[in-house]
Amino acid sequence: MKRPIFFYMILVAVLLGSFSAVLAQEGDWTPYTTDMLGGGTVSQDSRPEGALPDGCPVPEVKDHYVIGMSQANRAEPWREAMDSQIAAAAADYPEFEVIFQDAAQDNADQVSDVENLLTQGIDLLIISPNEAAPLNAVVREAWESCIPVIVLDRNLVDPNYSMFIGADNVAIGRAAGAYAAQWCADNGRTECNIAEIRGLEGAPPAQDRGDGFRAGLADGGLSEDNIVFSQNADWLRERAVPAAAAAFQANENLDVLYGHNDPMAEGAYIAAQDAGIDATSVLFIGIDELPTPDGGIMSVLEGRLGVTFVYPTGGRQAIDWAHQILVGHIVPPQWVILPFDTVSPENAQEVCNTFACPAAQ
Ligand code: FRU
Repeated sequence: MKRPIFFYMILVAVLLGSFSAVLAQEGDWTPYTTDMLGGGTVSQDSRPEGALPDGCPVPEVKDHYVIGMSQANRAEPWREAMDSQIAAAAADYPEFEVIFQDAAQDNADQVSDVENLLTQGIDLLIISPNEAAPLNAVVREAWESCIPVIVLDRNLVDPNYSMFIGADNVAIGRAAGAYAAQWCADNGRTECNIAEIRGLEGAPPAQDRGDGFRAGLADGGLSEDNIVFSQNADWLRERAVPAAAAAFQANENLDVLYGHNDPMAEGAYIAAQDAGIDATSVLFIGIDELPTPDGGIMSVLEGRLGVTFVYPTGGRQAIDWAHQILVGHIVPPQWVILPFDTVSPENAQEVCNTFACPAAQ
């Protein structure tokens, strides 16, 4: 059958149009927009290469995606909360399956966890690294093999990843330092003797929480000289008990005990009680503020910790961004900062109600 020439012209135009629509859908990255930030703010804009290194194709459109989650140490309550938030958020995306790995605070194990996940053919890697330097190379390997990588909470040495999501630990440490200085001033502790129980040295938050704290002391008219004791307890409550016992033994008049996280601050509280010290005369500071029965909010409400700070895990944001990257082909910012909050006796009940902690009213 003979058709007029314009029939063939229209047919070619339609075919070309749908072909380029497919190309646009499968072949283009789109920049992020601020409504995607999920309550966070951009600290560093997108990498010049985008979500993946130059030469990598955009992620294939599929109906099933496997996400690998490499956790530093699931035995710590805050990390368990992170994994649960990731699982809950992923349940909202039926096309997502998450494989969880736990390195139990061992860098070498975490390297092989990531290698393992890569061998399993994951579509995207989420990692919360135990320490920065030992995990740097394997994350670069993942990213250079065209797997999008989202780093959570503890940063690496080099930004060889699609994005980093985490709260500002310098700012949190600074708020803790300023709170300590104010508390000493308000309570007539003119000497203001402070002991610090630090997190794992190779984990950037430990460095940042320490540096920020010193800046906060200076903001409040004190100095590093007020820190009469500083020891590492690797983020762990059980290691903080003997460390704090040594602090109380060496310094009879400790005014403030700053733990880089809530479990260590709680361990220090136990050490004070064991040493027969009136723990109510010491300000115990922690960070994390989990709404769980033995978490930070309850501890403030029950009068053990004097103050703690909401430290969001970023679990939900990581999954939302994974969806934007894999399905939406969105280029994320290189660094998203999540907000933190101070939880003291003044607002602990309100925060408890917000996060549905066991004492919520
Ligand atoms: C758990 C943890 C948290 C802390 C975070 C810092 O491993 O120590 O308690 O806030 O890691 O990276």
